[in-house]
This record gives sequence, structure tokens and C-alpha cells, in this order.
Amino acid sequence: MNIEGEKMLPIVAGEELLEAQAHIWNHLLNFINSMTLKCAVELGIPDAIHHHAPRPMPLSRLVSALQLHPNKTHFIYRLMRLLTHSGFFVLQKLPKNSGEEEEGYVLTNSSRLLLKHNPCGVAPFLLSLLQPALVEPWHLLSVWFKSKDRTPFDMAHGMSFWEFMGSKPKDGDIFNSGMASDARLVMSLLLDKHKGVFDGVASLVDIGGGTGTVAKAIAEAFPQIECTVFDLPQVVGELKGEGNLRYVEGDMFKAIPPADVLVLKWILHDWNDEDCVKILKNCKAAITSNGKKGKVIVIDMVVGSKLEDTFIQSQLCFDMEMMSLVNGRERDEKEWSEAFKEAGFSGYNIFPILGLRSLIEIYP
Ligand SMILES: C[S@@+](CC[C@H](N)C(=O)[O-])C[C@H]1O[C@@H](n2cnc3c(N)ncnc32)[C@H](O)[C@@H]1O
Repeated sequence: MNIEGEKMLPIVAGEELLEAQAHIWNHLLNFINSMTLKCAVELGIPDAIHHHAPRPMPLSRLVSALQLHPNKTHFIYRLMRLLTHSGFFVLQKLPKNSGEEEEGYVLTNSSRLLLKHNPCGVAPFLLSLLQPALVEPWHLLSVWFKSKDRTPFDMAHGMSFWEFMGSKPKDGDIFNSGMASDARLVMSLLLDKHKGVFDGVASLVDIGGGTGTVAKAIAEAFPQIECTVFDLPQVVGELKGEGNLRYVEGDMFKAIPPADVLVLKWILHDWNDEDCVKILKNCKAAITSNGKKGKVIVIDMVVGSKLEDTFIQSQLCFDMEMMSLVNGRERDEKEWSEAFKEAGFSGYNIFPILGLRSLIEIYP
């Protein structure tokens, strides 16, 4: 104890003190990484560099392509310096005598994934997660811990996430586009390398299937499968299916249309354990085929399924995102297994084939 009666602090000094300070600074400034990337997407920087390819794009050309306010042009270098340091762009030498600067920007694999016309592009997903309504609740996190509100999101907006998305069409559209872009990426991987998942299936319902990206891709790849997109009226009410694709509105907590296969892509992580088990029980009741075909396909994270730090960091951050927005959670294998057992399923298989997420098959 010191003279004031406070516990003495262990002394951190020299290099360790400075390392601890840098560690804290990296964390406290992390939101700048998110916001500068969002800014680059909104300004169309990856697309401008892509249009200039195969030549590296000098800064002066980039600045004129972006049509900035003349007072702001000289700031772009600093935005690009950070994003280049973070691996989104690379500076390459330009041929001598090109009459331009010595260096220009080229894209990396990550910024190629942010191009507008990339069929697997994730820019809409980035914009949907960083829209102000989803960022605002983070300012309330500590207040929420001491309040009885269900989520920081509910606290910030006075209603649940799904009510909010239903009552604000602009935000709802941004959110649904973000989900659709993620679904395109996942489906391109799934149908490219793991088509066998749908072998022998005659009917399928994509529960909480949003605007139908997943079901549309399956319906096209497998014309013999009757595909249904099932979601809230606010999402599918106006949508019309055709051929082997149809839209059905409803509430998955009440009843789910029957099918051989029920798909839950990024649904269960939106809900707490009790609701997650309720949804799974409703799915089990909706499985029509008792043979080998009947199953539920879950696409979600299995926390710790990949040991690389970047994967775990994203999984743990996403877990916090689910806590903040919808009172949901990301689960590890033990937690998944408990939920499946409680819902009455006999077995499951986890296929860690989707990077941060896994495909899980659950059998009745
Ligand atoms: C995180 S999004 C996932 C969308 C889509 N499965 C995907 O991954 O692209 C969750 C979806 O669940 C839907 N949803 C929420 N509550 C629901 C309910 N009670 N019944 C049916 N769908 C619901 C939402 O409208 C939203 O489309």
C-alpha cells in the first residue's frame, strides 16, 4: 500500500513500458483501419486502380480519377500510405521516362475483393457492417453492461435489430445487400468445390434466406431441386420466384416449410442458446425425408476451427458484434454439439471448408 492506502502498482519500465503503450495505441486506433477502408470503398479507389491496370496508377492519376474537392487532393497520399501499409495496395516502380511519378499503386488480393464488379466482392458487406446504425451501439457497450436492455443496439435505437431493419428501408436494403454479397462468395466456393453436399436432394428451404442469393445459386446449379427462400415479410414480401425457386414469408419460430434439406446460413449465430435450440427443433420437425438425404445444413463459425491468429481475432470480434447487435453468439464445437443434442439431433459433421466459417451437417 502507498501513503493514500492504494495498492502499489507493479512497475513496468523501459522497453516493456513502451511496448505496452504501443499495444494499447494499436487497439485504440483500430477503428481508423475500419473507417479508412470504408472511405476507400466509398471513394471508389480499388475500382480506379483496377481501371488503370495493368499499369501501376500514379498518385496524380488516382487523385484526378477520384474527382475530389481541389482542397482535399493532397490528403489522399496519407490515406493511401496507411492502406498500403495495411496490405490493401502495393506501390510499384513505373518505367523510367514514363513522364509520370516514379511509383504507382496496384491492387492486392484483398483490394481485388473490394471491386464493385467482382462477383465475390465483399464491399457491400463491409458497408453494411460499418453503417452508422450498427456502429453507434458500440459507444454504449459499458452502459449496456449495467443496464437491463437486451442489446447495445436495442439501447441505441429503442427497438430490436430486425424491427429496425423492417422499419428503415434504406438501412434494411444496405443490410440485405451486404448479406447477399457474402452469400455470393460462400456459394461460389461451395458450388465450385463441394457440390456433393446437395447430392440426392429433392427439396430445400433456405431459412432466413434474405433476398435469395443462396437459394437462387442452388436452384440454378440443380434444376431438379425445389428451392424455397423463407424469410420475414419485410424481406421477401415483394419478391417473386420462378422455375424451381419460390419465396415464402413467415416466422421461423412459428413454422418452417417442410423439405429434405433445411439451410441455415448465418442464422443461428443471431440468436441466444434458447432461441437457437427452438429454431433447430422447428427445423428437425420440418425435415421430410427420413432417408440419407434429410439434414440441416448450417453455415456459421466454429470458434477455434482455424488456429491462425487472424481467423480467431475475426471470430472473437464477430462474437462481440453478435452480442452488440442481436444478443447472438459465435459458438465453439462443444457449444454447437450441446445445441444439436438438446434439439434432438442424432449426429453432426463439421467441414471447415469456408475459411472463417464452417459447413455443418446435422442429422435427425
Ligand atoms: C444474418 S441474416 C442472413 C441472411 C442469409 N441467410 C445470408 O446469410 O445471406 C439473417 C436473416 O434472418 C432473417 N430473420 C430474422 N428473424 C427471422 C424470423 N423470425 N423468421 C424468418 N427469418 C428471420 C432476417 O430477415 C435475415 O434475412
